[in-house]
Parts: sequence; structure tokens; C-alpha cells
Amino acid sequence: MSGFSNAWIIILTVVTIVLLVWLSFATRKIKNPRDDNTTGHVYDGIVEEDNPLPAWWFSMFMLTIVFGVGYLLVYPGLGNYKGMLNWTSVDQLERSQQQVADSFQASIQQFSGMSIEEMAGNDKANSMGRRLFTTNCSVCHGREGQGGFGFPNLADSEWQWGGSIDQIMHSIVKGRQAVMAPWAQVLGAENLPKVVTYVRHIAGLEPDADAATVEAGKQQFSTYCVACHGPDATGNPVFGAPSLVDDVWLYGNSRAEIQVSISAGRNGQMPAHEELLSQDKINLIAAYVLSLSSDKPAAAIDEG
Ligand code: HEC
Ligand code: HEC
Repeated sequence: MSGFSNAWIIILTVVTIVLLVWLSFATRKIKNPRDDNTTGHVYDGIVEEDNPLPAWWFSMFMLTIVFGVGYLLVYPGLGNYKGMLNWTSVDQLERSQQQVADSFQASIQQFSGMSIEEMAGNDKANSMGRRLFTTNCSVCHGREGQGGFGFPNLADSEWQWGGSIDQIMHSIVKGRQAVMAPWAQVLGAENLPKVVTYVRHIAGLEPDADAATVEAGKQQFSTYCVACHGPDATGNPVFGAPSLVDDVWLYGNSRAEIQVSISAGRNGQMPAHEELLSQDKINLIAAYVLSLSSDKPAAAIDEG
């Protein structure tokens, strides 16, 4: 604050307080009172008496002024004056953040020495993990980790990048970048629909598809797609290439949606969280994610 505004604020505040005190005393009684203790004003037959404010009222008023002066001495308020306590809002924020961090550290202490698998089976760890998941992951993966269009379901047992602890950890810490290139140019307008038919056929979506079309699609698939999706189309976690023969579809399984996936490509990105979250928190979240999928019976997986 510049010297001028500093002085301006101090003078204005002090003068206002002094004025208030003066005003309170100066107007307790009117000057030259009449003998009958009235002001001489009569309205509709009602006589205005010259009584001072009730004592309790007046002293409360004085108290607020005393409080105000005390407050200005103890806390910052008078220009640049820092106050006797040296209080700042930044300090207070840092202290309360520290308190939160300390209490988190204290509650996480109970899990030290536990493996991620053990934490995944621990109710307390899971409820902490769940809260962290809600804050950090649910915007994309949904409140229950159920996913959505373009965002994988983390509560089933189908994994693009692998469902082992190490692989899940890697997905969270380092992030993932899926590279499914656009194939429209390579396949051409004639072959594209055939590949779509083949993909839907092996997924069980077009069981009665024309055999010749399926065969032609298969040829293209073996040439261009098996490198990532595998010869039996069950996917490869190294590339994050999903299985195309299960019921789980990240981008939908209608002809139109699959055609877009193949012709235009898909590049889902999972952001790296190593800079965003402490290792303790990542451990809790990873354990929670593991717990989401580990108790799913095989039947539930097929439903996606
Ligand atoms: C370089 C590796 C690679 C090649 C080659 C490749 N894909 Fe993919 N494919 C991927 C990845 C990775 C994904 C996941 C994309 C994502 O998560 O955003 C994917 C996704 C898909 C999907 C969407 C699946 C879903 O769940 O919605 C389809 C369909 C697909 N690929 C079909 C094909 C076909 C057909 C070919 C051959 C023409 C092909 N891919 C070639 C890596 C590849
Ligand atoms: C900005 C959106 C976003 C946020 C936030 C996010 N994710 Fe993801 N995550 C994705 C996308 C998109 C993918 C799929 C990448 C791909 O297409 O391969 C993914 C993939 C994953 C995978 C791999 C899934 C598989 O099938 O292999 C895991 C595990 C995962 N996320 C966990 C988390 C956790 C835990 C958090 C919170 C700490 C989180 N994600 C936060 C978008 C997000």
C-alpha cells in the first residue's frame, strides 16, 4: 500500500471513531432543555420527551467502539499496520492446510507396511481410497468407476492396459496415451465396411454376416490390425489395444461407431498423476481401483 493510501486509511478510520464517540456523548441530551423534559415537539398529540438513550443501549454502543479499537490494534486493518498478533490470511490458510496434511498423514500411518493388495482388502483403506477417487478420478471415470463413452470402466475385469497392480499403478502414475491411427486412407472406402463387418462378426454382433464379406474383412484385419489387437483380436496391454471380442466397448459397438473408431482412429489419454498426487494417495487410490474389480464375478464382466 502506498504511503498516501496508508495515511489516508489510518486518518479516516481514527477520525471516524473519534467522531462517533463525540457524537454519542454530544447528543445524549439536547441543549437548553425545557422545564418539562420535553423537546417541545408534538405530533398528533404525541409529546416527544427528551430522554437519553437507555443505559444498556448506550453502553453496548460504547462496547462496539471499544471492540473495534481493540480489533484494529490486534489484527491488521489500520493501513499497513500488521497488528499485534501479526496475523495474515495466508498464514491461517497454510496452518489449516498443514492441519489437513497432518491428519491425513496420521490416518495413513495405519496402512504403512501394508501392500497394495492388503490395502485393497481393508475397509478403512478403501473408504479413504474411495474419497480420493471421487475427488481425483470420478470426473472422467464416473462415481463408481463405471466409466463412460471414451472413459474406461475400472470396475470390471477388462483392462486395456492390464489389471495387475503394476500395470494399474503405471496407468495412474505415468498416464496412458492410446494410439489407434486413422485407417480410412489405408483401407479405402471399399474395404472399410468389410472390416467393420468382420469386427462385429467376431464380437458376436453380426452372427449371420455374409461369409465372403467376413472373409475379406479378415484378410484386411490380418494385414493391418493384428500387430496391436492380436491374431485372435483379444488385444494387447502393451499398446493399450482393447480386446475386440468381448462385450466391452469404449467407443460403442454400433456399425457407425465402430466405423468411426477404425476410419478416424481413437486416441484416448489418461493423464499422468505423479505430479498431482503424493505416492501415499496414489497407493490408496490404486488399492481402491483394485478392490472395485477384484470382487466381480465372471458373469458381470461379460455385461461390461
Ligand atoms: C498401433 C496399434 C493399433 C493398430 C495397428 C490398430 N489398433 Fe485399433 N486400437 C488400438 C488402441 C490403442 C485402441 C484404443 C484406443 C483408445 O483407447 O482411445 C484401439 C481401439 C480400437 C477400436 C475401438 C474399441 C472400443 O472398445 O471401442 C476398434 C474397433 C479398433 N481399434 C479396430 C481396429 C482395426 C479394425 C484395426 C486395423 C484396421 C486396428 N484397430 C488397428 C491400437 C491399434
Ligand atoms: C481427464 C480424464 C481422466 C482422469 C481425471 C483420470 N483418468 Fe484414468 N483414464 C482416462 C482415459 C481417457 C483412459 C483411457 C485411455 C485409453 O484410451 O487408453 C484412462 C485409463 C485409465 C486406466 C487404465 C484402464 C485400463 O483399462 O487399462 C486406469 C487404471 C485409470 N485410468 C485410472 C485412473 C485413476 C485411478 C484416476 C484418478 C487418480 C484417473 N484414472 C483419472 C481419463 C482420465
